[in-house]
Amino acid sequence: MALIAPSMLSADFLNLSSEIEMVNQSEADWFHLDVMDGRFVPNISYGLPVVAAMNKEAKKTLDVHLMIEEPGKYAEDFKKAGAEYLSVHIEACPHLHRNIQQIKSLDMKAGVAVNPHTNVNQLFDVVKDIDLVCLMSVNPGFGGQKFIQNTLEKVKQLVAERERQGASFLIEIDGGVTLDNASEIIAAGADVLVAGSTVFKAENPTETIAALKTK
Ligand code: DX5
Ligand code: ZN
Repeated sequence: MALIAPSMLSADFLNLSSEIEMVNQSEADWFHLDVMDGRFVPNISYGLPVVAAMNKEAKKTLDVHLMIEEPGKYAEDFKKAGAEYLSVHIEACPHLHRNIQQIKSLDMKAGVAVNPHTNVNQLFDVVKDIDLVCLMSVNPGFGGQKFIQNTLEKVKQLVAERERQGASFLIEIDGGVTLDNASEIIAAGADVLVAGSTVFKAENPTETIAALKTK
């Protein structure tokens, strides 16, 4: 059983309040919030005011995934907006260690997200400092894409390294998670599953979250 984090990117933005309430009432564990700047990724989603508004109604952990350049400039603002986990992309951070320390000094859990092409061994010198690895299993920027199967190998490498170093970060899988592949992703060692379109495009999102919890 993994933690389930519905991605609000696939929610109905005209009815955000009821979408949040659905997640509140469901078996979901976290809210996954995708912030995109149109520069680091080829899409723009939503930003600080929307995160802060969602935080007013959300009763579960806010897991904020920053797909933006220069995330350090905004870390304090996301803390104020309600982020509990704040993930930055390794590919956007030439001074990743500094970004991690900044997030922790702001009393948030520090996450590092990695794109499909990035080898997880680039994280091995910081794994003891972080709380979450967000493994991208699609190219970031859009919901509804197909799961990249090679991600399962990366999960296994991270599990082995976590054990070797005695680290305690959670492994989160982001992109293309479905009811069909959730079990094998969890079997590989994932701790958190993000699910956007699988949850919000379902006929019954609440039941779909419950079904993901049984995997
Ligand atoms: C992609 C985002 C994901 C996305 C997942 O850039 O980081 O969180 O919302 O959507 P699905 O689950 O539809 O692949
Ligand atoms: Zn995400």
